[in-house]
Amino acid sequence: MAKVRTQFVCQNCGTVHSRWAGKCDGCGEWNTIVEEDPMGGIGGGPGKTPKKGRPVTLTSLSGEIEEAPRIPTGMGELDRATGGGFVRGSAVLIGGDPGIGKSTLLMQAAAALSRKGHRIIYVSGEEAVAQVRLRAQRLGAAETDVLLAAETNVEDILATISEGKRPDLIIIDSIQTLWSDTADSAPGTVTQVRTGVQAMIRFAKQTGATMVLVGHVTKEGQIAGPRVVEHMVDAVLYFEGDRGHHYRILRTVKNRFGPTDEIGVFEMSDKGLREVANPSELFLGERNEKAPGAAVFAGIEGTRPVLVEVQALVAPTSLGTPRRAIVGWDSSRLAMILAVLEAHCGVRLGQHDVYLNVAGGYRISEPAADMAVASALVSSLAGLALPADCVYFGEVSLSGAVRPVAHTAQRLKEAEKLGFSAAVLPALSPDLPKGAGGKWREVESLPDLVAQIAG
Ligand code: TYD
Ligand code: MG
Repeated sequence: MAKVRTQFVCQNCGTVHSRWAGKCDGCGEWNTIVEEDPMGGIGGGPGKTPKKGRPVTLTSLSGEIEEAPRIPTGMGELDRATGGGFVRGSAVLIGGDPGIGKSTLLMQAAAALSRKGHRIIYVSGEEAVAQVRLRAQRLGAAETDVLLAAETNVEDILATISEGKRPDLIIIDSIQTLWSDTADSAPGTVTQVRTGVQAMIRFAKQTGATMVLVGHVTKEGQIAGPRVVEHMVDAVLYFEGDRGHHYRILRTVKNRFGPTDEIGVFEMSDKGLREVANPSELFLGERNEKAPGAAVFAGIEGTRPVLVEVQALVAPTSLGTPRRAIVGWDSSRLAMILAVLEAHCGVRLGQHDVYLNVAGGYRISEPAADMAVASALVSSLAGLALPADCVYFGEVSLSGAVRPVAHTAQRLKEAEKLGFSAAVLPALSPDLPKGAGGKWREVESLPDLVAQIAG
């Protein structure tokens, strides 16, 4: 008899190992490797005869397909993140921490689409139908024609959604509860999640329905995370936010049919998620203008300017190795700014703890924030508050030079709109509006900036 070979799969990243290990080489996580049957879930078997396909030329398709047909939800922030609505026949993964509001967002989207006459099926594997209905009631969505089902078995789900009129959109909440008869492993393992998601994607491609899959981000690695299916779906959105804050950000990290740098901003209220059309006002809401160590960064997210406060606290350390704690920004980028301040500006922070926080639970990914961070650090160290009506942006290079960044005019326009009359920005910024009302202070290097703040 042939020996049954098993493999060891990391539940966090899906890396396959030949033997069990405590730590995964792929992602560096501990205790995430589980023994699985590699053939589980692969249908067909040896008896299947191959079917010949017929390739077509690209030119023969022109005129047939104009653009991906979309279903906009009418929720502006959600449509912005998906690139204009859900694409028919596509699979979208919405990932996020448990309790962040994924089910809430999707119930609201389902209700909005249903009101527009679309046929929506919400399959919940985590809550009973009555519980889902209760939430829908709270969201004012109970009077819509959204169809609810509480199923976890992949074959049962397929049978349920295949019945009756073809659905336009199906929500599977969540992929971690899916289990298939064809896979041997326990529910929640990589094999089960992959098998289930594969079946759902196949259904979407065959019927033209949109498949929205919810995936919990897991810390422990005992159940598979959304990462193991990211490559299988057409779009991946992450719902982020700080549990202590009401803001929630829907960030696109992959999109086969649209841009990947857009964000949707929401606020969690007792009646569900509310769209925030002007995020800058939200992130600047709790500002203390007279405190040293705070600088307003004029950023860009996708096509939209976002103003946000960068807060720094620099204090003498009592430890051998000073602390560097960062929320909302990249730690290696901070290390670089500290090194440049030390090497080129004579600002010594080797005996200081440095804390950096981006207000409102927001996360900055642009290098253009360098100048705002440097300004906040110097302001805190000097104990001098920065001018309250000024925004900062620009990239800092290792030589200490300040480099221009894209979208200068757009950043300044947003700043002016929100009452900021001054800006500190890189010299030679290409699209700097000439003769505009504001006071633009151009800086060439980081020492220039430090002299300006301290002087
Ligand atoms: P939920 O959508 O269940 O999160 P997920 O599906 O990502 O696990 O949201 C759970 C949280 O949202 C819960 O802590 C309560 C809060 N919430 C509100 O504040 N207002 C509301 O109207 C709803 C429905 C939930
Ligand atoms: Mg949920």
